[in-house]
Amino acid sequence: MDAADMGSKLEKVLVTEEEIRTRLAELAEQIWEDYKDKDVLLVGVLKGAVMVMADLMRALPGTVPMDWMAISSYGSGTKSSGVVRIVMDLRTDITDKHVLIVEDIIDSGLTLSWIKANLESRKPASVEIMTLLRKPDVVKVDIPVKYVGFDIPNEFVVGYGLDYAEKYRNLRVVGTLAPEVYS
Ligand code: IMP
Ligand code: MG
Repeated sequence: MDAADMGSKLEKVLVTEEEIRTRLAELAEQIWEDYKDKDVLLVGVLKGAVMVMADLMRALPGTVPMDWMAISSYGSGTKSSGVVRIVMDLRTDITDKHVLIVEDIIDSGLTLSWIKANLESRKPASVEIMTLLRKPDVVKVDIPVKYVGFDIPNEFVVGYGLDYAEKYRNLRVVGTLAPEVYS
């Protein structure tokens, strides 16, 4: 789905397809440099990270394995509670592996700090985080993010894997919704 297909439902585009492609190529190069001699596992968090994972992996100049987790946060709406439950766990034993969590967005950081702590309890060699988008609120929690695609304003965004009520994940750009969508 292109921005034009959204009609009046799209308020504005924050990150274009081209900007995402360029930035992911840069990050892929950096990640490859940092992990090429290591036993690395990319861990995606369903469902939002599907697009980032697919494009980041293909931008790497060599092969790496991936695995997925699905989690569910208690509560709904557009705010994170940080109270998390694993709905689908990794199949990979991550003992002594270098885990790189691949995420779509970090807002409060509550979800990710929970996931990171959970993975760290399994005795991996390391756990780092890559996120395509980061909102300003994350500075409130102490969560080091090694790779960030874009810092964006504190607005609710959709597209490129991110949804509003399970919609707009297949929008090619990242953008904000018009107020009419919420009412
Ligand atoms: P956090 O725990 O506040 O960092 O929120 C993490 C999760 O909330 C993300 O993985 C997304 O699934 C969701 N989320 C946060 N901000 C947005 C947004 O702007 N659009 C869509 N989903 C979001
Ligand atoms: Mg997510």
